[in-house]
Order: sequence, then C-alpha cells, then structure tokens
Amino acid sequence: MSVSSISPTAPAGTSSDVLVIGGGVIGLVTAWRAAGRGLSVAVADPRPGGGAARVAAGMLAAITELHHGEEPLLDLTLASAARYPEFAAELEAAAGSGTGFRACGTLAVALDADDRAELRVSHALHQRCGLHTEWLTGRECRRLEPMLAPSVRGGLRVDGDHQVDPRRLTDALLTACERAGVVFHRQWVRELTVSRDRATGAVLADGTALGAARTVLAAGSHSGELAGLPPGIAPPVRPVMGEVLRLAMPEPPDGAGPFLSRTVRAVVRGSAVYLVPRADGELVVGATSREQGWDTTVTAGGVYRLLRDAHELVPGITELPLRECRAGLRPGSPDNAPLLGPSALPGLQLATGHYRNGVLLAPLTGEILAESLVTGELPAFARPFSPLRFPSVVPV
Ligand code: GLY
Repeated sequence: MSVSSISPTAPAGTSSDVLVIGGGVIGLVTAWRAAGRGLSVAVADPRPGGGAARVAAGMLAAITELHHGEEPLLDLTLASAARYPEFAAELEAAAGSGTGFRACGTLAVALDADDRAELRVSHALHQRCGLHTEWLTGRECRRLEPMLAPSVRGGLRVDGDHQVDPRRLTDALLTACERAGVVFHRQWVRELTVSRDRATGAVLADGTALGAARTVLAAGSHSGELAGLPPGIAPPVRPVMGEVLRLAMPEPPDGAGPFLSRTVRAVVRGSAVYLVPRADGELVVGATSREQGWDTTVTAGGVYRLLRDAHELVPGITELPLRECRAGLRPGSPDNAPLLGPSALPGLQLATGHYRNGVLLAPLTGEILAESLVTGELPAFARPFSPLRFPSVVPV
C-alpha cells in the first residue's frame, strides 16, 4: 500500500508513510511489521534498540504473571505467547541472527506457608481461566530443578511460559528493520507536529522536520512527555523502575544437568523474584518494582533484596560471578494493559503502556499496529486496548 492510499495529505519533504517515535522493542517491531505491509517507515530514536528491553529478563510469562483483575489482558498475552516460536523463526531468518527464544517452561515455587497459600490462589485462578498448570510437591520441584533449596515446599509447573533474550531480540529487530528499508533518524524528537488538528510528523533535535501520514508514539515510559501533544492526548503512562542482575552459570560437568533448566520464580515475603537461565550460560535475576519517577540508580538495597530472595530459592547462586546490575523503566498504564492504535488525534497512533509485558506482547503488537496503520482501524480482538478507553486528561 502506498501513502496516497492511506492519506491524501501526506506532508512533502523528508516524509514517509509512517514515522515511529521510539526505537525500543515495541517501536522496532511496529516499524518492521509496517514495512512488511509495504509502507515506507522511519524511526526516530537516538539509540534504536535501547530502552527497557535492554534490561528486561525476557520471560514470556502470560500465565505466571497473570494477576487477579488483569484477566482481560490474558487473551492478548496468550495470543502473543502462542506466536513466539513462529515470530522468532521469521525474525531470525530476516535478521540472520538469533533471538535466544527457548521453549523451556517455568516453575513457580513456594518457600513458606504464606507463599504456598498465594501460589494455591494463583493455581485456582489458572484453573478458572482454563490454563494448564500442575501442582507439585517440594520433592517433585527439586527433581525437576535439583539446585532448588530443600526449603521449597511446593510449586506450580507451567510448561507454557517460555523465554527470549530481549537484547538479541532487539538487535535482530534492528537488523530486520534496516534490511526491510526502514530509515533511522538517530536523534531525540523535539516535538510532535500538528497541523489542522492532525499529527503530521515530528521535528528532530537538530530542527529537521519529518513528515508522515501516520505517526506512532512508541516511546515507552516517556510517551506521555512528548512536546507538541495537544491537551488531552498525552497517554497516561508512568515509569515503574525495575532492577535486574546478570550472573554467569558454570558449564555443567560432563554428564551433569544444567545449573537451572527453566525459569524459576517465587514470591518471597511479598516480593516477586525470578531466575531466567539462558542457553548461553547467562542467569538473569529480577526484578524490583519501584514507583520513583525517572531515577534508574541501582541501589545496594535493591541488589541485596534480589540476591537474598534468589539465594533462598537457589542457594548455589552465591558462587556465581555477578556480571551486571542495571535498572530500567517499565511503561506502566492505569490498567496495566497497553494502549494500541489510533488516538483521539487524527494521524497519531499509540503503541505504549506495555508495563511488564513489552517483550511478551511484541509479536502481537507489531501485527496489530501494522493492521491499524494500513486500515486506520484496530482488529476487533484488539479494540479493548484502544487508547480511547481512557477519558481525556484535560489540563487545569
Ligand atoms: N515481566 C517481568 C517484570 O516486569 O519484572
């Protein structure tokens, strides 16, 4: 489809059918899928391939991160998780590099009576939602993962929750975009441009004006901050900081199993902790969750809490080299679900607010945005996630 068929008013000059503001995992997947639909696409971001996905652990946890009250999101997260094997294969072929997708499953365990009661409640929720998860005794958990502490009292085997390596994923998306002809403007966006009540592109930090028939705001937790957004249009997203550690697992001795073979997670004294073992030996331990604005300082307390809780699950982690401590900002939304598709400002679409599920929802977000960029409408199954579900924020 050419620009003339989606908008008769495409601006002249440095213009494209689609301008994506933000080159994180969501911006890149949107750009790649839109280019695949025949649209000319530009991405504006000083460091494309950066953002929250550089920090994220990459759990595809549609089931183990399902929370009460978030059931409407489940259809979306399950559908995206189901697409992952094919999506990863297609992306790997397009980019010529891996994504680290592993169909390894997850084990959610409980250490004390309170944790076990909480996990039983999760199990009941899974059953109500028709999800297959299996209750295991502590001994059965340790049979699956021998490095688990003797104090593990039970757990849930969740064979449907896998993992991907978000850094390799975004690197592959960047290459795939470049190969698909996506143009990158490696600068900050100074402001959105609006002409006759319609978004018409953006101005970059150096003053370059980029015109576009459709502009997509995919700037993660910064999406609500973009200058030039008319009153009431700024998406209600906020930063939710998370600290994540990266350790290195030893090569298993001949004949021995791996240190961990699947994602292991738990709620310890009310805080979630997870350990995500990669095929290349990296072990990702996450994540804290703090609402403290834009601060991404990794604190001693955050690292202590993660190591203390992870050590209670898997005592052997204290022997491992600690390679990295880093914090990122999840783009939280009022209902923890993403804002997808046309906004109240003609010409402006949103792909933001993915909160804990940006990596998981990447395949489906790309598909949904490509469809709404081509047709101007969200596919029916994605309409509950329209940005228009939130009343306009009117400034005082
Ligand atoms: N999805 C994992 C996290 O947000 O910590």
